[in-house]
Amino acid sequence: MAEMTCIEDLRSLAKKRVPRMFYDYVDGGSWTEYTYRANEADFQRIEFRQRVAVDITERSTASTMVGQPVSMPVAIAPTGLTGMQHADGEILAARAAKRHGIPFTLSTMSICPIEAVAEATGRHPFWFQLYVLRDRTFVESLIDRARNANCSALVVTMDLQVFGQRHKDKKNGLSTPPKPTLRNLVNMASKPRWCIGMLGTRHRQFGNIVGHARGVDKIGSLVEWTQEQFDPRLSWQDVEWIKKRWDGKLIVKGIQDPEDARLAVASGADAIIVSNHGGRQLDGAASSISTLPRIVEVVGDRVEVHMDGGIRSGQDVLKAIALGARGTYIGRAMMYGLGALGEQGVTTALNIIQNELDLSMAFCGKTDIQSVDRSILLTSF
Ligand code: GLV
Repeated sequence: MAEMTCIEDLRSLAKKRVPRMFYDYVDGGSWTEYTYRANEADFQRIEFRQRVAVDITERSTASTMVGQPVSMPVAIAPTGLTGMQHADGEILAARAAKRHGIPFTLSTMSICPIEAVAEATGRHPFWFQLYVLRDRTFVESLIDRARNANCSALVVTMDLQVFGQRHKDKKNGLSTPPKPTLRNLVNMASKPRWCIGMLGTRHRQFGNIVGHARGVDKIGSLVEWTQEQFDPRLSWQDVEWIKKRWDGKLIVKGIQDPEDARLAVASGADAIIVSNHGGRQLDGAASSISTLPRIVEVVGDRVEVHMDGGIRSGQDVLKAIALGARGTYIGRAMMYGLGALGEQGVTTALNIIQNELDLSMAFCGKTDIQSVDRSILLTSF
């Protein structure tokens, strides 16, 4: 196998190794996929200002996110169905993140449950992403389970009370586990590594939900389940309530508007994530990187501003930091590594991004990621 030198290499190997419905779930956005594409494309429009003859011998990409040390300002984003890209995917990605010294965020819609990830990582702290469901007793129990698992931040997602339509998921009949239709069986037969892995694990359903939420012993379709269970009345009062109940670092995810950013801060957020959910929700929304400066301007002096969406390289991370982000998140870049090569693939993705970030920072004449600001950019928006 050729050496994996960039995230694109991992993506193309993942496409070969992961059953089509799960690969498509990752590599896709809602409706026309305009926002999904804009997230990546807008990074390409930003140019760096190269500097020379600066002593760049000693360099550091180390920083902090919500006060916690990180070896680079990159966390693993919460992604649904991670354990369907590769058997035990959440455990493998959490281990790779721990080794690299960056935060791993477990999704409510993960396959491996909170407790299994905690146990498999020696109770090393990770972050937990919470969806607000109609059943508040179950929400309380998720918060308590995250606390018991030693989670060190809670990420509340605000932008998925309804589901953006993703044509591919509809056409593929996305479900977990996959239905044994002829099309699925033929496709899975061509992915022997994936099948062997799945046969060797007991984690094949939504592990945080099935057997935990009242009356749920099976969830087939993510879309149908969210339609029934996610609370469309989600409000800032709920965020205040969650903050009180959690009583720890709270990160509010899914902010695109300056007014919402202010409201998130007023509700107790320690950090907000500028995000359009990877272009998977409101198609036609602006890219995350173009939105970031507006949000930093209004709340950047009060809370940490993080961003996700479109990051496929260390150069992208550097651009986001230059535009005021304290931290960034990778979802697809991690999922491609995982689908391609399991735990080693996630480590490879992290090493690629770290190396690109370090060298690009050096080219810009900077030696410390914490001193990077807009002055390293030639053009932005
Ligand atoms: C869930 O968070 C999704 O975007 O599919």
